[in-house]
Amino acid sequence: MTSLIAHRGEIIHFLTNDKDFEYFKDGLLVIEEGHIHSVGNAEELLKKTPQNTKIIEHPNSLITPGFVDTHVHYPQCEIIASYGKQLLEWLETYTFPAEKKFKDPEYASKIASFFLDQLLTNGTTTAMVFGTVHPQSVDAFFIEAQRRKLRMICGKVMMDRNAPDALLDTAETSYTESRDLIEKWHNKGRLRYAVTPRFAPTSTDEQLAQAGRLLHEYPDVHFQTHISENKKECEWVAELFPERDNYLDVYDHHQLLGKRSVFAHGIHLEDSEFKRLAETDSALAFCPASNLFIGSGLFNLHKANHFGVKIGLGTDVAGGDSFSILKAINEAYKIQQLQGNSLSAFESLYLATLGGAKALDLHDKIGNFEKGKEADFVVLDYHATDLMKFKLEQCDSIEERLFSLLMLADDRAIKQTYILGDLYTHAKVSIG
Ligand code: GUN
Ligand code: ZN
Repeated sequence: MTSLIAHRGEIIHFLTNDKDFEYFKDGLLVIEEGHIHSVGNAEELLKKTPQNTKIIEHPNSLITPGFVDTHVHYPQCEIIASYGKQLLEWLETYTFPAEKKFKDPEYASKIASFFLDQLLTNGTTTAMVFGTVHPQSVDAFFIEAQRRKLRMICGKVMMDRNAPDALLDTAETSYTESRDLIEKWHNKGRLRYAVTPRFAPTSTDEQLAQAGRLLHEYPDVHFQTHISENKKECEWVAELFPERDNYLDVYDHHQLLGKRSVFAHGIHLEDSEFKRLAETDSALAFCPASNLFIGSGLFNLHKANHFGVKIGLGTDVAGGDSFSILKAINEAYKIQQLQGNSLSAFESLYLATLGGAKALDLHDKIGNFEKGKEADFVVLDYHATDLMKFKLEQCDSIEERLFSLLMLADDRAIKQTYILGDLYTHAKVSIG
């Protein structure tokens, strides 16, 4: 029999939705060979656990599944916190120049390594990630993700118009390069591929048709793009695709919707688009920090829920100014407050874990502590700052404590991150 490792402390995870969770004040999370063996009340579970089980104690902490970032751009690390532009000017001024550098595989490796360490120090264990147009950017990313044994999704950007020449592919090369990357990386260990047209304005119909062809030929790959983030962007899409009913229809026309498709933002969608997303089991990535930072608008989570659209949280670095899903939760709360709705602690932690896993169609592998799932989890420190300690000691119920924790916490509260049951200790890389 293989030996078990047990983590003892306060534990919370979601079983099906935000109202269906298990909470153990004194809990035990038992790991066997990198996977969940069992979870439950510590005293009860210890009676059934073999004597030689190693027990790790986590006082003043909350153990949760690892966070899932459903939308983020690794090549944009260096332009985080750049001043004064909204989406289309921000892309021209900051994003495209930064992405040109990923022609160089060495640079790509350095940034991929830095990026993944940022995710892990922020408690994010799985993400759906944009590369650049260069296939070597995706090779570099997957090599670094594989070294860290992470469950990650990434794809090469497809972009055949309305961007600098150095960042353009063609409908044909975007197909062949994406196909070769799928053959090389998809389902290699914990890695998965996403077909990745940047957004409608930078792809011709010919290219979007090639994206559809890839999804048809490789039915279990993922799909990611942007939608309805910024008003000027939406007007531009209407001009570029006058024959389509709405923004979503540009993608729908090429059969790009489905249960592994993630559309980032969706701030300015019409009701019929929400309805169609739900019908096709497609997901939206809600990226609150980005929506505020580059001034895109307020995402209507209440409406998305009303239509039954799957939702995950995204940091959207570097439209977003933080790698922290905890900060995304904080901003998400404020965005809903501004629209007269209150986002509960349970719903936001659900979105950050099982909800994100469902949005990525990875909920059979990650997202909670069901037996057999991959043991990616985080230990949050209730005493990370003097303010947190002071405030949390005054909270009585788990509901109150969880809410205040989620509002006040950032990367300082991520005491430990575990990947397949192993404690992640990161070797800081110097970027220079
Ligand atoms: N729309 C098209 N490209 C991008 C990007 O890189 N970031 C964001 N936030 N929106 C986009
Ligand atoms: Zn984005």
